[in-house]
Amino acid sequence: MTSSDNQTSPKRRLLLASDRGDQSSELADILQSVGEVDTIATSDIPDAPASDLSGIVVDINLRSPESVQQVRNKLRGEAYRAMPRLFVLADALHHGTMQAWALGATDTISRPFDAEGILQRIRSAFPDSNEFDTSDRGKVLNSGVAAAHAVMVKIFEKLPAGVPLRFNDVVEAENKVLKAIKHSSLRDWLTTVGCHHTDSYRHCLFVTGFAVAFAQHLGMREDDQRRLTRAALLHDVGKAFVPVAILDKPAKLTDEEMRVIRMHPRLGYDALAAQGGFPAEMLDVVLHHHELLDGTGYPNGLRGNQISDIVRLTTIVDIHAALVEKRAYRLPFTHAKAFMIMEQMGGKLDQHLLKAFRPVVAMGSS
Ligand SMILES: [Fe+2]
Ligand SMILES: [Fe+2]
Repeated sequence: MTSSDNQTSPKRRLLLASDRGDQSSELADILQSVGEVDTIATSDIPDAPASDLSGIVVDINLRSPESVQQVRNKLRGEAYRAMPRLFVLADALHHGTMQAWALGATDTISRPFDAEGILQRIRSAFPDSNEFDTSDRGKVLNSGVAAAHAVMVKIFEKLPAGVPLRFNDVVEAENKVLKAIKHSSLRDWLTTVGCHHTDSYRHCLFVTGFAVAFAQHLGMREDDQRRLTRAALLHDVGKAFVPVAILDKPAKLTDEEMRVIRMHPRLGYDALAAQGGFPAEMLDVVLHHHELLDGTGYPNGLRGNQISDIVRLTTIVDIHAALVEKRAYRLPFTHAKAFMIMEQMGGKLDQHLLKAFRPVVAMGSS
């Protein structure tokens, strides 16, 4: 139990928007143990939420365009912009995932409900009301996470569906992301984005967090901080063209699946180059972030000086993020262990840069 869950502290207030016949009563019962729950029909979602509201749980039929539209219209309002939102998916196969993330989901849960799991997610996704609504820090963090998340939706959902990604889509998110990590902390960023249940989103958001913290730690000029932020947000754009069944496979990949996944730098590069409007430097990061200084990387086996500084930086934060992320098939490495593994990679990585990265690793560990 956290202090916020006892009787003396103000409890979270949650809005449960439901279009189900049973008014989501089973879910409401579970939520009661961590907050006060107001269950309402989707048509009754207020235009402006109560000021002490911690978050909104949406349990609607995500396959119904009317329901989705109704919720979209309400949650689009400025008052809901930074409000955490948990969506209920129809089943464990995650039907409706795309709609949920397009509606700005902070996290998703699915039926059948696992009460303990849901409560954990509520505690991490929905801070206490006083913490959420009165803290500028929290708002800045949420707004940065939401901006980065919006870029992920554009990369992973819209781009494969044929909606072009514009360079400006990425640039627009930079400010908020930089501000979020500057005014809160890398640790807060990692805790918040760590709730995301889609591996690829979570990974890119982790990489972005480490990249920004690294840039800020190195005292880079703001312009350079932006370049690194957009490189991190974009680096795995090619994974949008790799089947989700492989990307989010909850087990070790087979050799054939690995071959497919290793195509992502080329696929991303081709997509952005064909579309145009992306600086050469961004294309360089997308194509080469898996190259290693000793020539053993892919896709081109580049060596040493053929690998640019921004690529070297991205590679370091990319590998570190991958090691400390939770994956369905293995436990995450601790930040210290991950750093050790990277030191042992010796001549594959820029060891000078890696040394400079060490304090950032400490900032990210809890
Ligand atoms: Fe990658
Ligand atoms: Fe990556």
